[in-house]
Amino acid sequence: ADVRGRTAFITGGANGIGLGIARALVRAGANVVIADIRQDALAAAKADLAADAQVETVQLDVTDRVAFARAADAAEARFGKIHMLIGNAGVGVMGPVLDARFDDWDWGMGVNLGGVINGLVTILPRIKAHGEGGQIVTTSSQSALIPISYSAIYTAAKAAVLGISEAIRGELAAENIGVSAFMPGPVQSNIAHSGELRPAEYREDSGYRAREEALEKRPVSPLWMSADEVGERVLAGICANDLYILTHPEFAAGMRTRFDAILASMPHETVNQERAKEIGFLLSNPVFDA
Ligand code: NAI
Repeated sequence: ADVRGRTAFITGGANGIGLGIARALVRAGANVVIADIRQDALAAAKADLAADAQVETVQLDVTDRVAFARAADAAEARFGKIHMLIGNAGVGVMGPVLDARFDDWDWGMGVNLGGVINGLVTILPRIKAHGEGGQIVTTSSQSALIPISYSAIYTAAKAAVLGISEAIRGELAAENIGVSAFMPGPVQSNIAHSGELRPAEYREDSGYRAREEALEKRPVSPLWMSADEVGERVLAGICANDLYILTHPEFAAGMRTRFDAILASMPHETVNQERAKEIGFLLSNPVFDA
């Protein structure tokens, strides 16, 4: 579908991947509302996009449900309707699981999973109400497909985001709302600076704070994909209503190995046909049957 003249609400759109998606959408003629917690980055993004007629910015912490509704109101006041929700705001919360404290879990899950949930609950009914259809894009991660060590909190949220997207795709097709799960590999962005955003109430009982400060000093490799390249991939995925948007073929072998291992663990017994009939509704998802 064409995105021209349609409106996208992008969380975490003031930096990195979200900004790359915003650039691609603006080039393709969409209106873009960038919602982000960083006020300075919002101003810079607006100047960078230099397309005032198509761009609105709004400060939003995606964990704040009341503010989320107000931000959606502002988006509708400016452009009339929201068609696309790009649930992309996220923070890097990494470290050994033995060091993880409740503040690490709560902050990481609150932003990376809770932010996506808050977007769905706030904006899905608005897309349904106008009847023009739309698209949900969730920024999961390659780590949802090949979980990596020292990423338990991050992976928990990203795997949940992938699962939500797969579960809702069939349901929302009936409303003419497409769903895409976006699983990027390493992309050049500001994510190493996530620790700056950790709220005071999540700093006390944290085992990761020292690590976060060290991470901020690490340079981003130029070999990581550019945000503009992934932005174009996401745009193509939106236009094609692709369920999965991936970026790095380097991970294909690992994904195959993982799924082979899962299948190899399936009991090698004949299928109980009676039971299969009884649980038939659990055995298929229209998304994968098509
Ligand atoms: P980034 O740090 O450059 O951009 C993330 C944006 O989200 C920032 O502008 C930040 O201010 C905003 N944000 C953070 N917490 C927020 C909150 N509570 N409310 C509203 N906005 C908030 O990082 P990047 O890499 O562009 O991240 C975007 C998404 O991509 C995240 O969900 C991340 O987990 C995911 N991702 C990134 C990968 C990478 O290699 N950079 C790989 C896989 C997934």
